[in-house]
Amino acid sequence: MNSNWFKLVMKATGIQYGRNLLLKGMPVIFNKRGASLTIGENCVIKSSFLSNLVGLYSRTIIVTRTPGAKIKIGDQVGISGSTIYARKSIQIGDRTCIGGNCKILDNDFHPVEMEKRNELLQEKAPDSGHKAEWIGARPIVIGKDCFIGCNTILLKGTVLGDRCVVGAGAVVCGVFEDDCVIAGNPAKVIKKLKG
Ligand SMILES: CC(C)(COP(=O)(O)OP(=O)(O)OC[C@H]1O[C@@H](n2cnc3c(N)ncnc32)[C@H](O)[C@@H]1OP(=O)(O)O)[C@@H](O)C(=O)NCCC(=O)NCCS
Repeated sequence: MNSNWFKLVMKATGIQYGRNLLLKGMPVIFNKRGASLTIGENCVIKSSFLSNLVGLYSRTIIVTRTPGAKIKIGDQVGISGSTIYARKSIQIGDRTCIGGNCKILDNDFHPVEMEKRNELLQEKAPDSGHKAEWIGARPIVIGKDCFIGCNTILLKGTVLGDRCVVGAGAVVCGVFEDDCVIAGNPAKVIKKLKG
């Protein structure tokens, strides 16, 4: 399906994207007022079931959720049926491949403390105001030339150096230097590609 008309929606909502953005299937890309969402040049975003033969369980979803949130996706980045959801900041370096069905979440969606969760349930606009700060959130930085395997989950505060590889199904939380292969739950370094 040609999804080029969706680029008009992107423009209208202040999403900046570079030349040759290729949308395969219909993504959900939403930029909150006061937030910033930038996609570089020559990126490919896949959203239909067989647009990646790993089989995509959902469309790609890229969302800035709060005013001031920031998503910056570099050049030649490929994204397949993945969710990138920012309350603070998510940065993805050039030429990084995001495998099928990944979840990249810089926040917990809900507070850890039960009392705060219940209080936020009563809020009319739980996405803004000081109580929104109850929801744990830390920036995510993914370096250049990384390869993120399918069905992975990258949690708040994750930092991946350049050229890192994340094994299929990993649950990642923490800081990893350049050239690491990491895998498992919780993800650990299983190999160094250099040095
Ligand atoms: C991480 C990966 C790249 C490693 O490949 P590799 O360098 O050839 O490593 P190996 O297969 O030799 O495995 C090395 C060790 O890591 C373990 N391992 C490899 N991948 C793992 C994973 N995803 N989760 C947990 N452990 C893993 C192996 O069991 C092995 O353990 P051992 O040394 O105790 O025997 C690969 O296993 C992988 O997960 N690829 C991602 C595939 C994918 O999702 N593609 C994108 C589709 S959209």
